[in-house]
Amino acid sequence: MTNNLLEDKSVLLGVTGSIAAYKAVDIASQLIKLGANVNVALTEAATKFITPFTFKTITGNMPYYDMWDTNAKAKEQHIELAHNADLMIIAPATASTIATLAYGMGDDSVSLCALSTGAPKLIAPAMDHQMWNNKATQENINKLIERGDTIILPEYGRLASGEFGLGRLSSVDNIIDEIKRKAGDVYGDLCGKHIVITAGGTREPLDPVRFLSNRSSGKMGFALAEAARNRGSSVTLISSVKRNSLSGVHFIETETTDQMFNEVKKATQKADALIMAAAVSDFKFKEINKDKIKDKNNDLSVNLTPNPDIIASVEKNIIKVAFAAETKDLKKYAEKKLFSKNAHFIVANDVSDPSIGFNSDNNKVTIISDKGKVINLPIMPKIEVSHAILNSLKEYF
Ligand code: PMT
Repeated sequence: MTNNLLEDKSVLLGVTGSIAAYKAVDIASQLIKLGANVNVALTEAATKFITPFTFKTITGNMPYYDMWDTNAKAKEQHIELAHNADLMIIAPATASTIATLAYGMGDDSVSLCALSTGAPKLIAPAMDHQMWNNKATQENINKLIERGDTIILPEYGRLASGEFGLGRLSSVDNIIDEIKRKAGDVYGDLCGKHIVITAGGTREPLDPVRFLSNRSSGKMGFALAEAARNRGSSVTLISSVKRNSLSGVHFIETETTDQMFNEVKKATQKADALIMAAAVSDFKFKEINKDKIKDKNNDLSVNLTPNPDIIASVEKNIIKVAFAAETKDLKKYAEKKLFSKNAHFIVANDVSDPSIGFNSDNNKVTIISDKGKVINLPIMPKIEVSHAILNSLKEYF
């Protein structure tokens, strides 16, 4: 099974008459890069902003924009497009289109397709802030939400009118992220699961300006969260660092090991699995200075005291995945940790190699299970490593 759920999926992109219509070209292009088969429907108003030919060039498919085209190949083009779609995204969606959808009307090519499809729908509004805040629009939006459509909320910013407000089309990156998430919700192999993931290096304060920490960037944990989310799992990400925001992922920011420990304890009460990718500080300062420690010419001695072992303290009634960050004898130390942490499996990586491990976009890991199975993976992007880890996790569900 491919881990990119958009590969070979049919995505129907509806484009309506907004100045943001040109951004739909980028959406179509990114979906094509993800392996989707993209068909485009444009309202007549959309064709005033962007030409059907642009979409034909990008997608290789003839867009649907003339409801009265007597030369159209399909008898009823909207029915064919609607039935073949695995997902429908309307971006940008004007206030008028949203009203049309809310009232179940089908008087243009986009609303006709929307009315005829059983595919999950995502709607990305774009309009002036007055129109967005209008009660009628908000009521219409609520109607669509109640029916199960996903609304990709507009952003605050400079609008076509020159005024500032809420109404700009959400960023293309965010729209693509939402489409991936929706594909996971509907077609993912981890639907119905809840996975708690930790990321980043915990920070132990010495005084208000100094802390003890490590080189973890959080990339590994965030990649795991993205991969699990894209496969339909509900995800709680507990992290000491903030990176890209991942729509649909419940993000909890923590700083110290004690804080992470408390959040993991709470989150794992109702979870199916815990993946501890965070680099947790084994020690904290025995005393935290209230004020900044002043420069002195003398040596400074501080006392450290052990932190709680987060993963070891979680019951094994959920699937526990530990990481082992080692600088030598990777397998030997990882196997020891697998049992001391009472985990189902452990992901070992060599953090002395700067091309993998800390802060790299790639990793090279060995997965060792409590059943004695060992998987040596080649160096690959952290998102691919994450999918491999989730494949191992799936065997325990
Ligand atoms: O964040 P990146 O820059 O992408 O880097 C990724 C990474 C190198 C941090 C990641 O791949 C990794 O190896 N994470 C685990 C780091 C670590 O703390 O390893 P450890 O061998 O010290 O700990 C073993 C396991 O016990 C880990 O799962 C750790 O999260 C957990 N632990 C450790 C101490 C503690 N007090 N509580 C814990 O739960």
